[in-house]
Formats: sequence, structure tokens, C-alpha cells
Amino acid sequence: MIELSAGKANTKYKIYISKTALTKKVLNQNIDKDKKILIITDSGIPKKYIKELKKQLINKSVYVHSIDSGEKSKSFRTYQQIINKLIDLEFSRSDLIIAFGGGVVGDISGFCASSFLRGIDYIQIPTTLLAQVDSSVGGKTAINVPQGKNLVGAFYNPRVVLISTVYLKTLSEREYKSGLGEVVKYSLIGNKRLKKLLEENAEKVINRDDKILIKIIEESIKTKSKIVTKDEKESGIRAILNFGHTFGHAIEAFNKYKNLSHGAAITLGMIIASKISYYEGHIKNHQLDNIINMIDSLNLDTDYSKYNYSDLIKYVKSDKKISKGKLNLVLINKQLKAFKTAKFDKKNVMRVFS
Ligand SMILES: NC(=O)c1ccc[n+]([C@@H]2O[C@H](COP(=O)([O-])OP(=O)(O)OC[C@H]3O[C@@H](n4cnc5c(N)ncnc54)[C@H](O)[C@@H]3O)[C@@H](O)[C@H]2O)c1
Repeated sequence: MIELSAGKANTKYKIYISKTALTKKVLNQNIDKDKKILIITDSGIPKKYIKELKKQLINKSVYVHSIDSGEKSKSFRTYQQIINKLIDLEFSRSDLIIAFGGGVVGDISGFCASSFLRGIDYIQIPTTLLAQVDSSVGGKTAINVPQGKNLVGAFYNPRVVLISTVYLKTLSEREYKSGLGEVVKYSLIGNKRLKKLLEENAEKVINRDDKILIKIIEESIKTKSKIVTKDEKESGIRAILNFGHTFGHAIEAFNKYKNLSHGAAITLGMIIASKISYYEGHIKNHQLDNIINMIDSLNLDTDYSKYNYSDLIKYVKSDKKISKGKLNLVLINKQLKAFKTAKFDKKNVMRVFS
């Protein structure tokens, strides 16, 4: 069992990573037995996991609320349904929500926890690779509104994050690769050890080998928690976590959030950002080749040739990364450290698509 931590002062929390299923011991060490618990999960998560989890909890009152799987559930409607459930079950401020699922479940459960009775405890048990390496750590919670994704939410840290690689075995190839895209991101924004692990173990990563999964999850979280702990409210350094996201989000929006997963779009965005870094003189040619080869060796798609500059730039311009009218890009340098900059030559961005 690996133990990490994130957050500051009284909102500091532990993150446990194990390759076995969550045991009674681990769960009950982290959950007060007198609390009422609402497990929030979704319709796509195998029922056997929910049964197992319920069996391991010794609390007297454990309820399950399942939402439809998919992004559309991160809505006011689902939020209202969960709040109604908490009220019907007479949850008090000392009770607990368990977010048991991917990023959708984590985000909406966290937002319910942050706002119900002005805040009750929640714990994250993430079941997708993306949620394990990204959304369950950092305390960002949200729902979507018709005007855009994640426009309503709060920064609200969980009490604990319990990760088991057991859950990753049933994840679809698409969802697994989506999470892998985020893992690659951490390896390119400063985690050299993770990069080496990915380069030397591509085959094992593709085959979801538990030992290697544990290591890449640990390294990914170390990078994320270091950054989010320094910058809890996203005012500075946290921006480097958006490496690949400027064009990645534009690719997602261009595809109307269909066809390709978030991670697949971000992977293409990282290739674009790496190429801009090269044309801007921040990295060398062999470094760019090395990045593309590594991504390729993990069986992730690197071909963005069907997108052109004019298709994507309008979405880039409407994205949140424009500050005071200036477009900010997250690029990387020769030391493979990411940095945010508004200083770049537009011609070098266009060149990436020529
Ligand atoms: N809060 C943050 O910091 C943060 C960061 C990144 C992404 N996000 C959010 O995360 C969401 C995406 O999360 P996601 O990629 O985990 O997608 P998701 O939550 O939609 O899950 C993907 C699919 O996998 C299924 N699934 C989950 N666990 C499974 C398992 N163990 N076995 C089989 N199927 C399983 C789900 O039912 C769902 O159909 C987005 O809404 C995004 O905005 C939040």
C-alpha cells in the first residue's frame, strides 16, 4: 500500500494506492463507523464492485444512489436529485458521501458534498484511470450548465482518496487510454521518473500490469498533488497542468464532445503544444521525436492531421485560457519543465498545422 498526501493544514488529506481490492481494514480505518454513508455511483460501474464495497463497510446506514453514466449527468437535475436524497435520508453535517466512480461521479459528488448543509465530508474511490491520476486529487468539483462545462463548482478537498488498480481491469480500452493521456502529461511537465517508466514499460502499461500501474499512478499523483498543494485555487503554477489542454479542448469542442475521449483529445493537444515548443526553440528536434515516439509506443493516437488551424483557433479563443485578451499557451522547455506564456509567434502555431 502506498501512502501519499495532498492539501494544506486542516484540509490536508491522504491518498492510498493499492493493487488489491479495498479491504474492511483500510475502509474502516478511514471512515468513522457512526456516520451515515451515501455511495454515489453510476450505471456503467460493474455492480459487483458496489456490492463488494457495501460488504466491507461496517457502518449501520449505507445507501447507494446511482446516476446515469456519462457527462450529461453532471447537471443541475442530477445535483437536485442527490440533494433530495440526502434530505430524505436526513443526512446531517457529520455524515458522509462516497464518490465511487469516474470523474463524472467524483465531480458531482464533490459538489454536492461542498454545498449540502454548507459542506459535509466526502471521500473519493475513483474507478477510472483518469479519476485515479487526475480528477480525484486536487479538490476541484463541478457540474456543467448549458453554457459550458464545469461552470458551476467549488474547490473542496475530499477527506481521503482510496485507489485500487483492481477496478481498472474492466475499464474499456477507450477510457483506459483516456487516463493514459493524462499520465503522459505528468511525464512531460516535469516528472522524468514517470517518463522513464513509460518508456521502459510500454508493453506492461498497455497490458495493465498491476505493478506498473501502481507506479505510474503514484508518480502521476505526486506530480499533481505537488502542484495543486502549492496552488489550491488555480492562480499560478497550477496552469501547467493544462499542458495539451488548449488545443485538446478545441479538438473536443470541434468534435462536439463526441467520437473521441477527453484524454485522446488532450494527447493530440500535447503533440501540438510540443511542436509549438519546438518551433519556438524551447526544445530540440530529438526531444520532439522522443515525445512523439513515447506516445506512439503506448498505442495512443498521435495523428491530428484532420484538424486545421482555422477549425481549432475559434474554439481556442473562446476557451478559459485567454486572460486579459491574451492567449496563454503552456509549453515545455529543454529540461522538460512546463511553463505558461503569452509570448509566442503566431506563425509558429500555424506552422504546426501546415
Ligand atoms: N475535478 C477535476 O480536477 C477533473 C479533472 C479531469 C477531469 N474531470 C472531469 O472528469 C470527467 C471525466 O471522467 P472519466 O474520464 O473518469 O469519465 P466518466 O466518469 O464518464 O467514466 C467513464 C465511463 O467509465 C465507466 N466506468 C467507470 N469505472 C469503471 C470501471 N471500473 N469499469 C468499467 N467501467 C467503468 C463509467 O460508467 C463511464 O461510462 C469529466 O466530467 C471531466 O470534466 C475533472
